[in-house]
Amino acid sequence: MTGRQPDDHEQPAGQEQSAGHRPSDERALTSAQADVDDRAFETSLRPRRLIDFVGQERVREQLELVLESARRRGQPPDHVLLSGPPGLGKTSLALIIAAELGAAIRVTSGPAIERAGDLAAMLSTLSEGDVLFIDEIHRIARPAEELLYVAMEDFRVDVVVGKGHGATAIPLDVAPFTLVGATTRSGLLTGPLRDRFGFVAHMDFYSDVELVRVMTRSAEVLGVPTRPGGTEEIAGRSRGTPRIANRLLRRVRDYAEVRADGVVSREVARSALAVYDVDELGLDRLDRGVLDALIRRFSGGPVGVATIAVAVGEEVQTVEEVAEPFLVRAGLLARTPRGRVATDAAWTHLGLTPPAGRASWPGGTGPTLFDPS
Ligand SMILES: Nc1ncnc2c1ncn2[C@@H]1O[C@H](COP(=O)(O)OP(=O)(O)OP(=O)(O)O)[C@@H](O)[C@H]1O
Ligand SMILES: [Mg+2]
Repeated sequence: MTGRQPDDHEQPAGQEQSAGHRPSDERALTSAQADVDDRAFETSLRPRRLIDFVGQERVREQLELVLESARRRGQPPDHVLLSGPPGLGKTSLALIIAAELGAAIRVTSGPAIERAGDLAAMLSTLSEGDVLFIDEIHRIARPAEELLYVAMEDFRVDVVVGKGHGATAIPLDVAPFTLVGATTRSGLLTGPLRDRFGFVAHMDFYSDVELVRVMTRSAEVLGVPTRPGGTEEIAGRSRGTPRIANRLLRRVRDYAEVRADGVVSREVARSALAVYDVDELGLDRLDRGVLDALIRRFSGGPVGVATIAVAVGEEVQTVEEVAEPFLVRAGLLARTPRGRVATDAAWTHLGLTPPAGRASWPGGTGPTLFDPS
């Protein structure tokens, strides 16, 4: 590997979710965004080879084929786009691709490429077979993106010299390289850019069993002793995200060292996560506050998000972008045209009995919202 560390250009935690508002510190535990502490550990916790990369079976199998056939042809593989929510292993996979190819990797990110010239300079220094990793590629500036299309397709960049009528484009060759792009927002990629990737990998959330495997490996690397049930307990609260699993594992280890015998067991994990306010489903204080307000103050909804935000003393944006995505994914909250609604599962999760015969939504029991009666 040459050059920079993978995390050089990664954005600060929270920036992707909402400009201007950072999740408060207590949120950090269940946030999928990397914080400073994660970055410090992630370099050592990253799987180095495809075989150590847990889960994502389909992606792994397809990628194996892409890499193996490229190796046999002795040519760089097609450009690869890795798409999926934060903390699921996109950066790890990018580094693995380079390692599996025995190739050097150059790391940059969309926001770091402000001008087309920055990208041209970078491309011109690539050697044949190098991997260029562009993180958060959907945030690349438009002129740079246009230059990138041509480089991806024809291994050429047109460097424009001069201005106005006198401007001329000088074509420069670029060594055949493989672009690996990562994005948390593939919907924001333009069609022409997406079309130039030969292989698009969609990363999914991990099962609890897979998260246990991730943590078992991390515990070994960190030298954290575990007992059966310990990592299982943490897995269920990790929101399907390896980054969160690894973070909770470290916090439980802290607790185990200070308040127990240093071993991560089920009981220790339970007590620790109670102290850290992460419940059995991985909900934190804000998530539960939203459900609590929705159910206890507004009878389960429907109620507008602005009202919920006032009730929990947060900004609308925080409720919408920080709390709601996971609540929706967990099937606890529904966004309907008339407002937010708590599902039956949400009532049950708070230890309450869902009211019978109310309007139905995912998980509901009664007639639908749109019934004429
Ligand atoms: N499949 C996996 N197997 C083992 N560990 C994993 C896996 N995926 C992720 N991890 C762990 O989670 C951490 C975060 O992963 P990574 O940085 O690759 O995520 P990402 O998708 O790039 O996130 P972001 O969108 O924030 O950049 C890694 O350091 C690694 O420890
Ligand atoms: Mg990343």
